[in-house]
Amino acid sequence: MSDLLAALESLRERLKEIPQADERRLQELKIELLGRKAGALTEILKALPGLDPETRKRVGGTANALKRELESAALARELELKRSSTALAGVDLTMPGRPQWRGGLHIVTQIVDEICDIFRELGFTRAVGPEAETERYNFYALNFPKDHPALDAQDSFYLGGDVLLRTHTSPVQIRTLENYKPPIRIVTPGRCYRRDPFDASHSPVFEQIEGLGVDEGLTFVDLKSILAAFARRIFSPTTKVRFRPSYFPFTEPSAEMDVQCQICGGGGGGSGCAACKGTGWMEILGSGMVHPAVLENCNVDSEKYTGFAWGMGPERIAMLRHGIPDIRLFFDSDVRFLEQFR
Ligand code: DAH
Repeated sequence: MSDLLAALESLRERLKEIPQADERRLQELKIELLGRKAGALTEILKALPGLDPETRKRVGGTANALKRELESAALARELELKRSSTALAGVDLTMPGRPQWRGGLHIVTQIVDEICDIFRELGFTRAVGPEAETERYNFYALNFPKDHPALDAQDSFYLGGDVLLRTHTSPVQIRTLENYKPPIRIVTPGRCYRRDPFDASHSPVFEQIEGLGVDEGLTFVDLKSILAAFARRIFSPTTKVRFRPSYFPFTEPSAEMDVQCQICGGGGGGSGCAACKGTGWMEILGSGMVHPAVLENCNVDSEKYTGFAWGMGPERIAMLRHGIPDIRLFFDSDVRFLEQFR
């Protein structure tokens, strides 16, 4: 019995080799010690049934314990070798994962979609036009005089000759009137470009949404009611609006629409509201009845048809809606800002 115990003791010595063994050596050790045919430990275990009960008990207990130790040491080493042989070497697998990145629509895109949806429910189709326009579409067909300051290269981005980046979405009115017969009801979102400073309230690139309705018998009342309905939808059901006379070459009469200041609630904050300068009102769009000259420029009979139109800035509406103080935030691509609107 002491022979067997001594043999087991010497086999136990081999345990120390396991943590250092490479893959090949580990396989050799496993076969040498635990191999089913001639493993040294297997041989001892096989001999157990022939021993007297007392010896069998002691040797068996030690041999089985050793077998478990050898097996678990071999398994641990195998896992270790596997881990270090893959790309995961040196990676802490217990570290928490990074949350998956989820993209979203830009807040201005969301507002544009929301505005177009409101007008779709009021019967308006979405239309688009090119960002590079000729002077004819951007200005002359819209009844701008030849000497209007907007035609100056100081104010607009010219691409060459009479082609420029559109300064507003109004040229889509012309393209639509040239190509479709009334009744027409469209909204046209899109980018516009002006040589403006990049400051808290201006950007040389900005979004506009143009609206146009042309039909028999349309009046200023239609324009006012549609725009008032829009304001109540985009702001709140109790939002009040007012129209102030204005001037645009392509509308007559023309008006700007104000909504109750969304920051002070229309009270002017005891005249201290910075957003509306204490007036309680904020301008959100320009509008008017389509000038007969514009209809005639597009071969639409201005005796038979009348139209209304408006243009507004979605960035401004997003700023009012969410109390955003600076238009540049829309262009900074700062995820911390953008994420708030997902
Ligand atoms: N195009 C004008 C601008 O960029 C906005 C505008 C005003 C559009 C009145 C219209 C309108 O259609 O009727 O300032």
